[in-house]
Amino acid sequence: MNKSIYPALLLLLFGFTGTGHAASPYAGKSLGAAVCSQCHGIRQPSADAPFPSLAGRDKDYLKQALKQYRDKTRISEVMNRIAGSLTDKDINNIASYYSKVKP
Ligand code: HEC
Repeated sequence: MNKSIYPALLLLLFGFTGTGHAASPYAGKSLGAAVCSQCHGIRQPSADAPFPSLAGRDKDYLKQALKQYRDKTRISEVMNRIAGSLTDKDINNIASYYSKVKP
Protein backbone atom coordinates (compact mmCIF):
# COMPACT_ATOMS: atom_id res chain seq x y z
CA MET A 1 0.00 0.00 0.00
CA ASN A 2 1.37 3.38 -1.01
CA LYS A 3 1.58 5.52 2.12
CA SER A 4 1.27 8.77 0.18
CA ILE A 5 -2.49 8.30 -0.12
CA TYR A 6 -3.03 8.69 3.63
CA PRO A 7 -2.86 12.49 3.78
CA ALA A 8 -5.40 12.70 0.98
CA LEU A 9 -7.70 10.27 2.75
CA LEU A 10 -7.43 12.18 6.01
CA LEU A 11 -8.22 15.42 4.24
CA LEU A 12 -11.30 13.81 2.79
CA LEU A 13 -12.28 12.54 6.22
CA PHE A 14 -12.02 15.96 7.82
CA GLY A 15 -13.92 17.50 4.95
CA PHE A 16 -16.80 15.13 5.48
CA THR A 17 -16.94 15.08 9.27
CA GLY A 18 -17.40 18.82 9.73
CA THR A 19 -21.06 18.93 8.77
CA GLY A 20 -24.33 17.33 9.82
CA HIS A 21 -25.99 16.91 13.19
CA ALA A 22 -28.33 13.94 13.41
CA ALA A 23 -26.86 10.44 13.08
CA SER A 24 -27.76 9.44 9.58
CA PRO A 25 -27.02 6.71 7.10
CA TYR A 26 -26.87 9.47 4.45
CA ALA A 27 -23.91 11.10 6.13
CA GLY A 28 -22.45 7.63 6.55
CA LYS A 29 -22.95 7.09 2.85
CA SER A 30 -20.95 10.14 1.78
CA LEU A 31 -18.15 9.33 4.18
CA GLY A 32 -18.20 5.67 3.21
CA ALA A 33 -18.29 6.40 -0.50
CA ALA A 34 -15.53 8.99 -0.26
CA VAL A 35 -13.15 7.20 2.05
CA CYS A 36 -13.95 3.63 3.03
CA SER A 37 -15.01 2.43 -0.41
CA GLN A 38 -11.51 3.06 -1.74
CA CYS A 39 -10.50 -0.10 0.04
CA HIS A 40 -13.67 -1.84 1.16
CA GLY A 41 -15.89 -1.02 -1.79
CA ILE A 42 -19.56 -0.30 -1.22
CA ARG A 43 -21.28 -3.60 -1.80
CA GLN A 44 -18.09 -5.60 -1.84
CA PRO A 45 -14.40 -5.08 -2.39
CA SER A 46 -13.12 -5.93 -5.85
CA ALA A 47 -12.50 -9.64 -6.29
CA ASP A 48 -8.79 -9.67 -5.59
CA ALA A 49 -8.77 -6.95 -2.91
CA PRO A 50 -7.54 -8.12 0.50
CA PHE A 51 -10.04 -6.00 2.42
CA PRO A 52 -12.96 -7.32 4.46
CA SER A 53 -16.41 -6.60 3.10
CA LEU A 54 -18.59 -4.23 5.17
CA ALA A 55 -21.95 -4.34 3.38
CA GLY A 56 -24.79 -5.90 5.34
CA ARG A 57 -22.62 -6.58 8.37
CA ASP A 58 -24.04 -6.27 11.88
CA LYS A 59 -24.24 -2.61 12.86
CA ASP A 60 -23.01 -3.17 16.40
CA TYR A 61 -20.12 -5.25 15.14
CA LEU A 62 -19.04 -2.45 12.78
CA LYS A 63 -19.33 0.15 15.53
CA GLN A 64 -17.35 -1.97 17.93
CA ALA A 65 -14.62 -2.68 15.37
CA LEU A 66 -14.25 1.03 14.51
CA LYS A 67 -14.06 2.01 18.18
CA GLN A 68 -11.45 -0.66 18.79
CA TYR A 69 -9.39 0.64 15.87
CA ARG A 70 -9.80 4.18 17.18
CA ASP A 71 -8.74 3.16 20.71
CA LYS A 72 -5.97 0.97 19.25
CA THR A 73 -7.27 -2.05 21.16
CA ARG A 74 -7.46 -3.65 17.70
CA ILE A 75 -4.30 -3.08 15.76
CA SER A 76 -4.15 -2.38 12.06
CA GLU A 77 -1.80 0.29 10.78
CA VAL A 78 -4.27 1.39 8.15
CA MET A 79 -7.46 1.27 10.18
CA ASN A 80 -5.89 2.82 13.29
CA ARG A 81 -5.02 5.87 11.18
CA ILE A 82 -8.40 6.08 9.56
CA ALA A 83 -10.54 5.44 12.63
CA GLY A 84 -8.38 7.75 14.74
CA SER A 85 -10.12 10.82 13.36
CA LEU A 86 -13.70 9.49 13.42
CA THR A 87 -16.15 10.87 15.98
CA ASP A 88 -18.77 8.69 17.67
CA LYS A 89 -21.29 10.24 15.32
CA ASP A 90 -19.24 9.34 12.24
CA ILE A 91 -18.98 5.79 13.52
CA ASN A 92 -22.74 5.59 14.10
CA ASN A 93 -23.44 7.02 10.67
CA ILE A 94 -21.06 4.69 8.86
CA ALA A 95 -22.17 1.59 10.75
CA SER A 96 -25.77 2.49 10.10
CA TYR A 97 -25.08 3.00 6.41
CA TYR A 98 -23.00 -0.10 5.72
CA SER A 99 -25.29 -2.37 7.76
CA LYS A 100 -28.16 -1.37 5.45
CA VAL A 101 -26.31 -1.97 2.18
CA LYS A 102 -27.25 -5.26 0.54
CA PRO A 103 -24.06 -7.18 -0.22
C1 HEC B 1 -6.44 2.25 2.85
C2 HEC B 1 -7.40 1.14 2.88
C3 HEC B 1 -8.57 1.23 3.84
C4 HEC B 1 -9.47 2.25 3.96
C5 HEC B 1 -9.52 3.58 3.19
C6 HEC B 1 -10.42 1.84 4.97
N1 HEC B 1 -10.10 0.60 5.44
FE1 HEC B 1 -11.15 -0.48 6.83
N2 HEC B 1 -9.79 -2.00 6.72
C7 HEC B 1 -8.66 -1.99 5.93
C8 HEC B 1 -7.89 -3.18 6.23
C9 HEC B 1 -6.54 -3.54 5.60
C10 HEC B 1 -8.62 -3.90 7.20
C11 HEC B 1 -8.22 -5.22 7.89
C12 HEC B 1 -7.49 -4.83 9.17
C13 HEC B 1 -7.35 -5.93 10.18
O1 HEC B 1 -6.74 -6.94 9.87
O2 HEC B 1 -7.87 -5.76 11.32
C14 HEC B 1 -9.81 -3.13 7.49
C15 HEC B 1 -10.78 -3.53 8.38
C16 HEC B 1 -11.94 -2.83 8.65
C17 HEC B 1 -13.01 -3.28 9.52
C18 HEC B 1 -13.07 -4.60 10.29
C19 HEC B 1 -13.84 -5.60 9.46
C20 HEC B 1 -13.94 -6.95 10.12
O3 HEC B 1 -14.34 -7.90 9.42
O4 HEC B 1 -13.66 -7.08 11.32
C21 HEC B 1 -13.96 -2.31 9.54
C22 HEC B 1 -15.27 -2.29 10.32
C23 HEC B 1 -13.48 -1.25 8.66
N3 HEC B 1 -12.26 -1.59 8.13
C24 HEC B 1 -14.18 -0.09 8.41
C25 HEC B 1 -13.70 0.97 7.61
C26 HEC B 1 -14.40 2.22 7.46
C27 HEC B 1 -15.74 2.56 8.11
C28 HEC B 1 -13.64 2.99 6.64
C29 HEC B 1 -13.89 4.45 6.21
C30 HEC B 1 -13.99 5.42 7.30
C31 HEC B 1 -12.47 2.20 6.26
N4 HEC B 1 -12.54 0.98 6.90
C32 HEC B 1 -11.49 2.62 5.38
C33 HEC B 1 -8.32 -1.02 4.99
C34 HEC B 1 -8.97 0.19 4.79
